[in-house]
Amino acid sequence: MDYPLFEVPRMGGGVFIGIVAIIHVVIAQLAVGAGLFIAIAHTLAVRNNDRLLLDFLARFGRFLVLLAFVSGAITGVGIWVTISLVSPPSTSMLIHLFVWGWAIEWVFFLIEIVAGYMYYYGWHRLTPRRHIAVAWIYAFGAFMSLAVINGIICFMLTPGDWVPPWQDSAYDGQQAFWIGFFNPTYWPSLVLRTILSMALAAISVAMVVNCIRSYSREQKTRIINAGSYLLMPIGLVAPAAAWFFFAVPENSRNFAFGGAIAMTLFFAFGAVLSLFIAGYAYWALIHERSYANLQTSVLLLALAFVAVGSLEFMREGIRKPYLVHGHMYSNGILATDEWRERINRDGLLTYARFAYPPTTTLEEVHRLPPHAMGRFVFNAQCRICHEPEGTNDPAPLVNQSSRELLTKITSELHELKHFMPPFLGTEHEKRALVEYQLFLAHGEAYAPPPGATSSAATPPTSRRGVRDEGDAR
Ligand code: HEC
Repeated sequence: MDYPLFEVPRMGGGVFIGIVAIIHVVIAQLAVGAGLFIAIAHTLAVRNNDRLLLDFLARFGRFLVLLAFVSGAITGVGIWVTISLVSPPSTSMLIHLFVWGWAIEWVFFLIEIVAGYMYYYGWHRLTPRRHIAVAWIYAFGAFMSLAVINGIICFMLTPGDWVPPWQDSAYDGQQAFWIGFFNPTYWPSLVLRTILSMALAAISVAMVVNCIRSYSREQKTRIINAGSYLLMPIGLVAPAAAWFFFAVPENSRNFAFGGAIAMTLFFAFGAVLSLFIAGYAYWALIHERSYANLQTSVLLLALAFVAVGSLEFMREGIRKPYLVHGHMYSNGILATDEWRERINRDGLLTYARFAYPPTTTLEEVHRLPPHAMGRFVFNAQCRICHEPEGTNDPAPLVNQSSRELLTKITSELHELKHFMPPFLGTEHEKRALVEYQLFLAHGEAYAPPPGATSSAATPPTSRRGVRDEGDAR
């Protein structure tokens, strides 16, 4: 409410964040797993004087630096850009709570990058012992950056016993930090992410090895099999996931297990794909010690990408209607009695100055035809999840609902669908919001409520956002 609205036409802000975040998560986790692979494989290769493996590690390091570092860094910054544009209140809240967490994470990230480059440029320059040490420092830095960021991500779903600073609490800021950080899903989630990181790394080993023309098929098979040991823990995904679900709030668990069908499907896809990959890993790579060609490994990586993406999407989705569970709604409104009362008393638009154009005053907004005013209420409160003519489009959801039914639905959003926050605002705003939804559903055929003033005289407005709106400017 306190920030300008960032509109992503058609796609909606949530999907925009999701795309950038999922690409980043896959790349970053791949880099973590690859660190572990490089450290272990390098140590063993030096010990056994395994020339082939050493040669491969030099090439694999280049792949890591080129792909993971460059695209990982770009998408990592991309997450900051997208979350602070689409959801400034939650970004601000997380920064206020975890500023030192992020500072620590950036230090580990820096260690990871510096050690990664030292590893890459260290061939024929560092002594074998130092080179091994650098590989382990890389692995440590990469893993620790995951371990730190994991705390902050999990906090949003399961803040646990954490009490926000705006409520009376028995904790000081420092205690609150640790309570929020080591929250109920911290450990299961760290285990899950570590397992997935290792699997991603093993698959990328198979992919990179296949791009090296000078290796014979036997040599390729030997390296792929060495990498496939990292796939072994993938069998633990199921118990780790069970542990994770044990720790999430009941509502969220219900969403994943049928309560919100989209989330259930994402969960099912993620779980089944992980099972397929695990099955292939055990059967083909570990048991039969067979060879995986380039096409197979690219396919595996694509499957792993979809699996990780689905699980991340599900994790984000089951947090609804909150950004920070129990404390801040998805639309950035604080979930406290105080704020609910204030908004219901004074009106949402009183607190959402950026929801309507800067040249318009609140009085003018209140004099607009209801559906025109309703759009501003909708933008401030609903748009984060409902993009007109786009993701979760309200029009087909409203469909042929009557004015009376839609008023009832709007009054009971949170009871009707547990993943929606309650409507907050005055009766006047609610009426306006209902009219706007009817307008979205019926377009040209929209008929204003009987007795509504001035609305008949207004030209039809665009069904999309503020920016398309000539008259609102
Ligand atoms: C946290 C995300 C979120 C927010 C915020 C949100 N919604 Fe929804 N809403 C959803 C989802 C998800 C659905 C289910 C869509 C489906 O069934 O395909 C939905 C469904 C609906 C429906 C259809 C209900 C039904 O019975 O089928 C209406 C109407 C609706 N939303 C209106 C609103 C309004 C008005 C607001 C703002 C006051 C709002 N929503 C805020 C996520 C949200």
